[in-house]
Amino acid sequence: MSNPSTALTDTRLLLGVSGGIAAYKSAELVRQARAAGAQVRVVMTAAAEHFVGAATFQALSGQPVRSSLWDPAAEAAMGHIELARWASQVLVAPASADLLARYAQGMGNDLLTTVLLATAAPVALAPAMNQQMWAHPATSANVARLRERGVAIWGPGVGDQACGESGAGRMLEASELVEALIAAKVGDQLRGLRIVVSAGPTFEDLDPVRFIGNRSSGRMGFAIAEQAALMGAEVVLVAGPTSLPTPARVERVNVRSAEQMLRAVLDQIDRADVYVGAAAVADYRPVAPRPSKIKKAAEVMELKLVRNPDILATLADRARRPFLVGFAAETDDVLHYARGKLEAKRLDLIAANRVGLPGCGFDSADNELTLLWPDGELALPRASKAELARRLLLHVSERIRSRQG
Ligand code: C5P
Repeated sequence: MSNPSTALTDTRLLLGVSGGIAAYKSAELVRQARAAGAQVRVVMTAAAEHFVGAATFQALSGQPVRSSLWDPAAEAAMGHIELARWASQVLVAPASADLLARYAQGMGNDLLTTVLLATAAPVALAPAMNQQMWAHPATSANVARLRERGVAIWGPGVGDQACGESGAGRMLEASELVEALIAAKVGDQLRGLRIVVSAGPTFEDLDPVRFIGNRSSGRMGFAIAEQAALMGAEVVLVAGPTSLPTPARVERVNVRSAEQMLRAVLDQIDRADVYVGAAAVADYRPVAPRPSKIKKAAEVMELKLVRNPDILATLADRARRPFLVGFAAETDDVLHYARGKLEAKRLDLIAANRVGLPGCGFDSADNELTLLWPDGELALPRASKAELARRLLLHVSERIRSRQG
């Protein structure tokens, strides 16, 4: 993770490491979880110490590593029950077949299983084992029993294994586990809200083979839809032409032109609490698209274009309007133009960004946004689109809740 992030600020992560070759990935997990703002303490099983040394986790977490119940000095500093109470989230990664079995049985025969029994924090396990061991009915029964008790099972992934076999049993990568931690934390911040997001470009047809389009990739809008769903909202994504995959638990409606996008949004809007207009809607469309391919003849060709409807402004005119969020992508004088749009379109919030900077904006993974609303503004420094989406949505949910309250 290249950017400092705040997604896991306030998370006190107790990371359990049990015996498995995947333990080397947990070192990177500690680093990434801390980079996202978490405090991390590591508890290792005796078997884990055969794979990675405690000194590695100690250096990366900046905290003493615990592995034994029977260390009087460590118990005096922070006893196992205090450790269990300290955690706001427990994650065991890797979780070996043996650890799953002991936890499913309710055993407390080492420090990690004792902490698992004593904690009231949510527990997640990231299994890692040979694919035959994962497929064994005993392991399946243990996993089913743990799930019934509310333990989250993250993974395992499918692929090549250290033992030379291939199949299900690989521990998820550090970055995937950090995303899962973030998702677990934000899981209910937007519960009860229905959010409609428009994303991507629109294509305005000239004839059956040509169109006027733009360079929007749709990534910002897709990131907003994905994060809104992770944060518990019901999400409808009205997507212009893009090949991006549909995020999990998001209902997608595909459209092509601005007029189709307006119709699809209007179909959804009566039930929506929030509309996020992240689409780069074409301002103009050909007056009369030709039914057959335009032939090359004249040296100079003139195209007659007509203004497209403004989707956000249309929504702002309605008697019952959801919380309206717009985007303003500008090349210069960004905040000035963005505030103008906020006022002209009577929006509740506008997210402004400068386009044309290297590594930011269209088609890139990172972005930089400033949120502006009628009586305030907030600069969100450069970060991944997922992180910016979360921060934007959090701001929206706070504004909606403060209106309601
Ligand atoms: O294109 P413009 O800079 O005006 O876009 C600002 C905001 O208005 C964006 O959120 C965009 O999705 C929205 N918009 C719209 N309908 C249009 C043009 C823009 O909803 N026809």
